Amino acid sequence: MTTQTQSLYRWKDDPVLTVEHLSMRFGGLLAINDLSFEVGRGDITALIGPNGAGKTTVFNCVTGFYKPTEGRIVARHGKGAQTEAVDHATRTGKRWHKSGEGAVFLLERMPDHEISQKAKVARTFQNIRLFGGMTVLENLLVAQHNTLMVASGYTVGGILGLPSFKKAEKAAIKKAVYWLEHVGLVDRADDAAGDLPYGDQRRLEIARAMCLDPQVLCLDEPAAGLNPRESADLNMFLRYIRDTHGTSILLIEHDMGVVMEISDHVVVLDYGVKISDGDAAAVKNDPKVIAAYLGVDDEAEIDVPEVRQDLSGAKGVPHE
Ligand SMILES: Nc1ncnc2c1ncn2[C@@H]1O[C@H](COP(=O)(O)OP(=O)(O)OP(=O)(O)O)[C@@H](O)[C@H]1O
Ligand SMILES: [Mg+2]
Repeated sequence: MTTQTQSLYRWKDDPVLTVEHLSMRFGGLLAINDLSFEVGRGDITALIGPNGAGKTTVFNCVTGFYKPTEGRIVARHGKGAQTEAVDHATRTGKRWHKSGEGAVFLLERMPDHEISQKAKVARTFQNIRLFGGMTVLENLLVAQHNTLMVASGYTVGGILGLPSFKKAEKAAIKKAVYWLEHVGLVDRADDAAGDLPYGDQRRLEIARAMCLDPQVLCLDEPAAGLNPRESADLNMFLRYIRDTHGTSILLIEHDMGVVMEISDHVVVLDYGVKISDGDAAAVKNDPKVIAAYLGVDDEAEIDVPEVRQDLSGAKGVPHE
């Protein structure tokens, strides 16, 4: 893990993603209510909270699957907050704006394919979504479809003959194999993705997202259903992704052991509202978090020291 001093400042000083005053309403239900938080560049940020707190809804808003009722979601390439570029894009109604420092993207204005391809924010799903009938390798090539089509000049002739397409195709296969090696699935490359065991499918989903070369990787409960060994391997893999590729990770996770071990920054949601935000140590000891996880309304009712101990050591903390 990075040092505390660095990570305490990173999400404020160098946010790769900011969610500002986000609200999402489904009919009469306000699933997200005026939520703001930052994701630091190079951090592993955990978004946690009891069942139904709104975590997946945040991901759906960030990745363009839902159009938020209100709020601004900014992704940044290049260092710093780039406030002037963000203000310029907001004022002029643009979806993104390039500046000397990099580029900023207003995700709430962008469709999902632009968010993954241009803003470079990729995701995995709580319920695995692979092409089960396609092979493992094909799943990773489909993810790179956009790059291949650009190389083809969007023509059949290009696909059949252009050297740029052949080169791009080779590069796509090389990238797919690279990630298959890192998730230990090279031997299964030609098998149907739907035939893989559950844990392998989860890792394949992460490999598929990484084939998009994301700046931000959003993982919705990647450790769900994994055994302790697989879960420990996943932690190492996430650190590898962050350390070697500089990818910032936003992680929804129920296993508090995982969260406390690998997160630089933890944001806690309950009923669509942020109740805590800080480094893992601060959040773990926050009475509001303890109350939310144990379903206790009145902080005074909690025997805090014991509960704290439970929470810090717990695997699979109870929800609601
Ligand atoms: N498409 C939708 N239409 C209506 N209500 C929805 C929709 N998506 C989510 N909700 C509601 O919004 C609230 C938040 O749901 P969400 O799935 O974001 O929670 P979560 O924190 O991811 O929960 P879990 O830990 O169980 O995955 C819930 O009350 C849910 O029923
Ligand atoms: Mg969810």
